[in-house]
Amino acid sequence: MMTRQYGPVPGPSAQSWDAMYRSRDQVFSGAPNPVLVGEVTGLPPGQALDVGCGEGADALWLARRGWQVTAVDISRVALQRAAAAAADLATGLAGRVAWARADLTAAPPPADAFDLVSVQYFPLRREPGHTALRGLLKAVAPGGTLLFVGHDLSGLTPRPEDGFDPADYYGPDEVAQFLAPGWSVQCNETRPRTTPPPAGAHHTHDTVLRARRAR
Ligand SMILES: C[S@@+](CC[C@H](N)C(=O)[O-])C[C@H]1O[C@@H](n2cnc3c(N)ncnc32)[C@H](O)[C@@H]1O
Repeated sequence: MMTRQYGPVPGPSAQSWDAMYRSRDQVFSGAPNPVLVGEVTGLPPGQALDVGCGEGADALWLARRGWQVTAVDISRVALQRAAAAAADLATGLAGRVAWARADLTAAPPPADAFDLVSVQYFPLRREPGHTALRGLLKAVAPGGTLLFVGHDLSGLTPRPEDGFDPADYYGPDEVAQFLAPGWSVQCNETRPRTTPPPAGAHHTHDTVLRARRAR
């Protein structure tokens, strides 16, 4: 399966994500994120956007449940692995996922297009115009769902040695503030993780924001 590329050619961030993926044969478990499974089971399938799809487990899980998925990542290596995993699976599934390479902080997804926008552990840095965040929210179609899941960063302190500062990233409450009138927040909470974090990470809790856009 081919991947396509849209928007500006990703720069240094793409290289660092590619390097991260190349550092191991497989970074993630291959299983879909449990929060996605818990929150999306029961939603009627439609068009889904998987934001920062990584090695593709969430996108493939959605496709198996009848969703038509646009799975976007900045990393060519991750997308190659995702497409290879899809090719290994039953025929018919492959056509339900479009893998696309893009920097979603520079190239917003199409507006009003997706019944589900799933953002799972996507490193969305706060920036003054909030363009990338607004672009992701605008991608949700009328009547659609935003599922914004992240590591709970509360209580973490900056690590200047590796350039990490929790204040650089949007938290769920801040994301919720950008929802226009007519959206309803269905869930905004912090939960213990039910599965261990990926190797090298130490997060014990997730933040889960689920909101629905009015029709
Ligand atoms: C922590 S991983 C999460 C992967 C997947 N969502 C999951 O939960 O297994 C973050 C992913 O976002 C991708 N990513 C980071 N910055 C990006 C950007 N600006 N545009 C698109 N993808 C990006 C990375 O390549 C990586 O695959």
